[in-house]
Amino acid sequence: MEVKDAQEKFFQPKVWKRNLLITDKQAVTIVIFGATGDLTKRKLLPALINLKRKGRLPEKLQVVGFAHTEFTEEEFDRLMREGAQDVGDLEISDEEWAIFSKHFTYHRGSFTDSEDFKALGQRLNEIEGGDANRLYYLSTAPRFYPDIVKFLGEHELVNEQAGWRRVVIEKPFGTDLDSAHELNEAIHKVLQEDQIYRIDHYLGKETVQNIFVFRFANTIFEPLWNRNYVEQVQITVAEEVGVGHRGGYYDHAGVLRDMFQNHLMQLLALTASEPPADFSAGPLRDEKVKLLKSVRQFKSEDVALNTVRGQYAGYREEERVESDSTTATYAAMRLFIDNWRWQGVPFYLRSGKNLSEKLTQIVIQFKCPPIKMFPLPSDYEMASNTISLCIQPDEGVHLDFEAKVPDMAAETKTVDMEFHYADDFGQRSIPDAYERLLLDALQGDASLFTRSDGIEVAWELMEPILQAWEKDDGGELESYSPGSEGPAGADELLAEMGHSWLRGCVHD
Ligand code: BG6
Repeated sequence: MEVKDAQEKFFQPKVWKRNLLITDKQAVTIVIFGATGDLTKRKLLPALINLKRKGRLPEKLQVVGFAHTEFTEEEFDRLMREGAQDVGDLEISDEEWAIFSKHFTYHRGSFTDSEDFKALGQRLNEIEGGDANRLYYLSTAPRFYPDIVKFLGEHELVNEQAGWRRVVIEKPFGTDLDSAHELNEAIHKVLQEDQIYRIDHYLGKETVQNIFVFRFANTIFEPLWNRNYVEQVQITVAEEVGVGHRGGYYDHAGVLRDMFQNHLMQLLALTASEPPADFSAGPLRDEKVKLLKSVRQFKSEDVALNTVRGQYAGYREEERVESDSTTATYAAMRLFIDNWRWQGVPFYLRSGKNLSEKLTQIVIQFKCPPIKMFPLPSDYEMASNTISLCIQPDEGVHLDFEAKVPDMAAETKTVDMEFHYADDFGQRSIPDAYERLLLDALQGDASLFTRSDGIEVAWELMEPILQAWEKDDGGELESYSPGSEGPAGADELLAEMGHSWLRGCVHD
């Protein structure tokens, strides 16, 4: 084989799981509760259209929109098209829309009226005209979830005699441990756990899926991924946007419920857990839950010592935000994981709105090497190696290490080896997380969805912080300037152990 051929073969993608194609020939109906809402326009429709373009949807597909407003089929069709274009930012021609919209139907109904679910059942039977699988997507305000699931059960819309029945549930899943537990109980009265797909859209991001691939498909990193070599781990999910028009929701939620209980806990679990026996839903979710159970829970007195909360200046003037609100729009925390792999290694997590830039990154900093053997000045600070997993917006990985500066007797410089998805996979654009999650739900693969115990253990970790902050007992609420790096207290938190926030993902 020519060297060039051998190289090309080596760099070909290797299929390690399964193809992203629907192999199931049976008819599928997707029922979207809350079809006229923002999520349908912004995420679900573009995801469905892109899947259709890639030939990944079943031939026999019906999408039934369910919401309480009265619409004719034409009005609904127009609403969906305009929504997909204007809100979902999707370009679609008249011809293509005509093909796609053939799959669409609208059904008016109330989420709280049992009779409307009976009518929905009859309508679905008419549309399907025989056996069909069904995916129910709950894209409504969370207060409707218990009723919708109850009525689906009451009218036998989730019994699996004529095909599988699955229910996708959007976040937020509960507002604290008790409410999440109650919701799980209400849902389990009607559905088996394997019928439930709780979405955390971070898990559908390609770069989040790459965390496990990076760790476990490479021999050179995993042996170092532990307390013997790692000094600290930092997880940052920074946003440039403020709360925008979502003030009404956000002011009750705050950054812990909005970002930490779900996205940051999932990133932490993927960064720190043990390798699963395989990548199927059971073993994978077992490992994530095991990891979160090993995180040291705060007692109330630990909260002020290990967390920092902030609110951006001007937040209280945002639309539908209380004028004396104490809701945190920024949080940073130091966590420890009490297991053999991680004991003693600080994990710093931070997230906030209205910061200098949008950036999601995970930085692993290794311990500093012994430098006495190098003829360096006594005040010389040798940098430690870092690996940065760049989740967004510039998806990739950076490895920083020291190199000797040429033509100097004893000088080192940190150099950067970098991988960017856009450079190496340029021809394959990174799909939106919802594409992958919808497809997985249709294929019955729950590995990228959260199990009931995973949701609850994440709430357990948030609970003491939420309680302390609500009692105004968890340290001062610091104000920070919009467009800044966040409150000064976050730097002080790291300085206590001689650390500082690292910026690992920089594209030259
Ligand atoms: C959502 C939060 O879950 O995630 C939003 O409710 C946040 O407040 C969003 O802006 C961030 O998602 P992404 O994919 O843009 O990082």
